Amino acid sequence: MNKNRLEYYKGNIYLCGFMASGKSTLAKTLATRMEREDCDLDEVIVEKEGKSIREIFDENGEVYFREKEREYLLELTREFKGIVSLGGGALHNQHIVDHLKVSGLLVFVDTSLEVISERVFNNSERPILFDKEGKIKTKETLFTELKTLYLEREDLYKQAQIHIKTQLYNSVNEMADGLIAKISRHV
Ligand code: S3P
Repeated sequence: MNKNRLEYYKGNIYLCGFMASGKSTLAKTLATRMEREDCDLDEVIVEKEGKSIREIFDENGEVYFREKEREYLLELTREFKGIVSLGGGALHNQHIVDHLKVSGLLVFVDTSLEVISERVFNNSERPILFDKEGKIKTKETLFTELKTLYLEREDLYKQAQIHIKTQLYNSVNEMADGLIAKISRHV
């Protein structure tokens, strides 16, 4: 690894991937290792809107959430320097993918749907867990819906310059090391 080149790399590193894939935890560890700032797009939205993600979905609707998600992400690409963890739906279209790849490196955090579905089912405030009446969906319904959504988004995630399969690592520290090795081959 060429340590100097990595130290001099000033572009942002964007972590994308499906919900509950471990992007935020990895972003924090990576930021510590690389001695850079980290930022979570969902947290920015919550802070700026003064509501939880679920409240925004319930009170303002998904279209509003996506509009804000896009606005704050574009703002981050201009004003923030460091590691950015994106929400699972933040790659809205080809234009955003192209923009992120020019503004920095896009990393796809690839976690299996089985693991994701368990995480969302067992410990989640994520809107997809709830039906129209606010009741928790069955495991089977949740898995089917997650799979459909994943297949719709997969093509955009896969355009990332770097892919990291989380199941190949035993800990987030190992994963961060693996990712740093991959990043250093790109800068
Ligand atoms: C979403 C993913 C969430 C959050 C919102 C919508 C999605 O972020 O932005 O609940 O549509 O995939 P995480 O990927 O951090 O869970």
